[in-house]
Amino acid sequence: MSAKIIDGKKIAAEMREALKERVKKAGPGLAVIIVGENPASQVYVRNKERACIEAGIRSEVIAFPEEATQEAVMARIDLLNKDPAIHGILVQLPLPAHFDSRKVLDFISAGKDVDGFHPCNMGTLFLGNPGLQPCTPHGIMKMLEHEKVEIRGKHAVVVGASNIVGKPMAVMLLSKGATVTICNSKTRDLGHHTRDADILVVAVGRPNLVTGDMVKEGAVVIDVGMNRLQDGRLCGDVDFDSASEKASLITPVPGGVGPMTIAMLLENTVEAEERSWRR
Ligand code: GUN
Repeated sequence: MSAKIIDGKKIAAEMREALKERVKKAGPGLAVIIVGENPASQVYVRNKERACIEAGIRSEVIAFPEEATQEAVMARIDLLNKDPAIHGILVQLPLPAHFDSRKVLDFISAGKDVDGFHPCNMGTLFLGNPGLQPCTPHGIMKMLEHEKVEIRGKHAVVVGASNIVGKPMAVMLLSKGATVTICNSKTRDLGHHTRDADILVVAVGRPNLVTGDMVKEGAVVIDVGMNRLQDGRLCGDVDFDSASEKASLITPVPGGVGPMTIAMLLENTVEAEERSWRR
């Protein structure tokens, strides 16, 4: 089988277009905090800002130097929490080593937590209630829906158990009726699990970890990896060429999951504002 490529860029563009109507009725504002000069983070933040401008969402990037104190960053979050013109707050990760990231993320008001990382939003997701959901797994669910992938009764295997992607992804798939396996870096014989997956989501940050021989014939393969090789090329966690020989549907890197993450951030920001009216 030669897989159909899921065009995340195109699906995300359609969603961003559809969002413009909702933006017009509102005046959402997003604040993005970045600490230090991690080059990948700088690229991500720039892309988020560009996407906001294009969608008509006000965005404010607040950059702190690497040596900024946690207190200074938290004092700024406190102001943003209280600012009625700001509906979404995002702290770009990773933070420098002297930060307690959990403490910083927990300090963001749950109603403005457009990353969906706050324990309240994570708990809401776990319970299956509506709330702000982490952008990457949320975007993947939208992609599966767009491609009319049946989830109920399927075996979904999530490789990677991070708080940002793997764990919320597993819960979202479970809520839609999948039987879910979560693999982590200690999993013995990873291929044994991945070869049984009808839906395979890989989010570990290891270039080409999953090869075609680890993919079931006809599987749906979602690659969350975004790895920069020494020659400067971007590559995913899945070996695209061999995996696309086996899969029925597969996401490319770049142009797959990444654009969906940004589209969901914009949607969460609008959602956060709409929710603030109902409070
Ligand atoms: N760093 C890598 N991915 C993410 C994300 O989804 N949100 C934030 N805030 N930081 C990240």
